[in-house]
Amino acid sequence: MRIAIAGATGTVGRHVLAEALKRGHEVVEISRSKGVDVAKLEGLADALKGVDAVIDVTGPSSASVAKAIEYFRTSSSNLLQAGKQAGVRHHVTLSIVGIDKIASGYYAAKLAQEAVVEKSDVPWSILRATQFHEFASQMVGQLSFGPFAMVPKARTQPIAASEVGQALIDLAEKGPGGRVPDLAGPQIEDLGDMARRYLKAINSSKKVFAATLPGKFFKGLRDGLILPEPGATLGKQTYAEWLVGLRN
Ligand SMILES: NC(=O)c1ccc[n+]([C@@H]2O[C@H](COP(=O)([O-])OP(=O)(O)OC[C@H]3O[C@@H](n4cnc5c(N)ncnc54)[C@H](OP(=O)(O)O)[C@@H]3O)[C@@H](O)[C@H]2O)c1
Repeated sequence: MRIAIAGATGTVGRHVLAEALKRGHEVVEISRSKGVDVAKLEGLADALKGVDAVIDVTGPSSASVAKAIEYFRTSSSNLLQAGKQAGVRHHVTLSIVGIDKIASGYYAAKLAQEAVVEKSDVPWSILRATQFHEFASQMVGQLSFGPFAMVPKARTQPIAASEVGQALIDLAEKGPGGRVPDLAGPQIEDLGDMARRYLKAINSSKKVFAATLPGKFFKGLRDGLILPEPGATLGKQTYAEWLVGLRN
């Protein structure tokens, strides 16, 4: 198959790309660093010429919720419109488990993206996955103050981005499936604990402070609203195993 991967250079996109190539698919890499901006319609239909399936794993660069909503609405509409024009038969989007239970902050933007895809004429699949194993390290990167790192109190069931990449290629090969079963990692973890174990693995002496942050979004994280429901597909690699890979 010829598969376009929008966001091919990202945290999960790199794994989607590696898996597609491993299985012998022809790949079109889409990202601004590869010269294609999905926030703009011009040039997209050309990039999607001859493509059977588009996998969208892009994400906004801005932390602003309003900008994220605008980004996901525009980028998904553009990919779908250009895809239709180019004869794409399947649009696959990666979303996040529990977004409808929190429906606030960044998750409101992901819901807006899902709504655009669900209304599309191009047959689609939406896979909701839990946070990647990289989640705690990303939080530490964003909220570090000198010798301290702050993370919100949260429970998550993190998944290997490589396994999400494999699941997305499985979906592209299988054909349009609508909302498919959620994908989660094998074990529930405490985010503060994940951050401490990550810092230990990289030999950092930073101390982690798990904070009770205000607002509906952070309350949802504490209350376990981003955990998968029974019936979700579970990945294999644990967070502990991912950390071992990080040390090697
Ligand atoms: N992180 C998680 O734990 C998690 C869990 C479940 C689902 N998701 C979803 O998975 C998706 C990918 O997440 P990620 O963490 O892998 O993202 P990421 O590492 O930030 O990567 C984003 C990718 O999108 C590309 N991109 C950004 N703006 C673009 C634009 N205007 N035009 C073309 N490409 C653009 C980036 O490349 P350039 O900068 O070169 O353009 C990059 O390849 C997101 O939609 C996210 O909501 C994430």
